[in-house]
Amino acid sequence: MSDTTSNITIERKQSHVEICLQDNIAFNRKTTGLERFEFEHNALPEVYLSDIDLSTTFLGKKIGAPLMISSMTGGYSKAATLNQHLAMAAEQFNIPLGVGSMRQALENSSYRESFAVTRKFAPSIQIFANIGAPEIAKGLNKSDITIMLELLEADGLIVHLNAAQELFQPEGNTDFRHVLEHLATLTDTITVPVIVKEVGCGISATVALQLLEAGVSVIDVAGAGGISWQKVEEVRYTRQFGQENRFSPSALEELLNWGIPTAQCLLDIRELKKERPEFRDVEIISSGGIQCGTDIAKSLALGAQLAASARHILKALHEKSLEKTIHTWLNDLKAIMFLTGASTIEDLKNKRLIIKQ
Ligand SMILES: Cc1cc2nc3c(=O)[nH]c(=O)nc-3n(C[C@H](O)[C@H](O)[C@H](O)COP(=O)(O)O)c2cc1C
Repeated sequence: MSDTTSNITIERKQSHVEICLQDNIAFNRKTTGLERFEFEHNALPEVYLSDIDLSTTFLGKKIGAPLMISSMTGGYSKAATLNQHLAMAAEQFNIPLGVGSMRQALENSSYRESFAVTRKFAPSIQIFANIGAPEIAKGLNKSDITIMLELLEADGLIVHLNAAQELFQPEGNTDFRHVLEHLATLTDTITVPVIVKEVGCGISATVALQLLEAGVSVIDVAGAGGISWQKVEEVRYTRQFGQENRFSPSALEELLNWGIPTAQCLLDIRELKKERPEFRDVEIISSGGIQCGTDIAKSLALGAQLAASARHILKALHEKSLEKTIHTWLNDLKAIMFLTGASTIEDLKNKRLIIKQ
């Protein structure tokens, strides 16, 4: 790996954080779809608010609440501080945490500490390693996998599928051939569960089925309605090359808003699980635009085991209100559980959602 390539990766990871905090990079023509639903009110909840239990399980382990901090960063010096704070919050609430793409850790050992720091500050929670589809397409070797897992004492490996992001990225890698084949090999050889996620364009039922048949343990839908990674990369592209009109204006608008809304992914995958009983117990993560406890609650009633969030968690960390934000989201969740008569997360999953008129 040349110094130039390594520097581009560092620049990219730094500017992702900066752009996500500053620029307007949300979908402007699409929402998560979660706002289309509301819970049926229960006038007889038969629940004491103080008794409501938010704990649940993920991949067989008890966790404090059905929330995960999504994969974000690592691989440059400032990322160590971000990851430390994310890890401390995750440990405090006993919720799972994903780190950002570990490609940099594989390319340059001096950046490994920015990932390893998470385990030092979060000794007891589930922490997940992360790598992108382009690396999977090339075929990860055994030593790459060992480095990623050992650095974090990881509980699993997350693979992100990000075709639209790579398409817009100035230095994007658009060779997505053989990803599925290599994923199947990976799930056969690795000793921990493999989670596959998108980064904001969503996972359809068709793709979910291909992934499950390839041995993937968990699917994180990372649907449309939160960040548009096409927009993030368009900001980087324009900074480097100016307005180049790569796409015609109306196509550009459609591509920047490309993706399956989070709620639609959940509905479609729930149907798939009904049709294919052998996948009935597969855990689904709802993410893409999650920004409060009602989003978490609706996600669970639409079939998710957990909800996960990246950008709003990053913003809260930046504003020094991360713990308070998570606390507020969990309080939202408790309020919904009280008003639907759910004293446990399992109860909440069976509560009725109504499509708003
Ligand atoms: C600053 C930042 C960096 C990210 N880097 C990664 C990454 O390295 N690997 C990955 O799988 N997802 C990455 N993501 C995507 C998120 O994990 C998530 O899937 C996506 O942003 C949608 O969720 P959100 O709407 O809650 O932000 C990143 C997100 C943010 C905000």
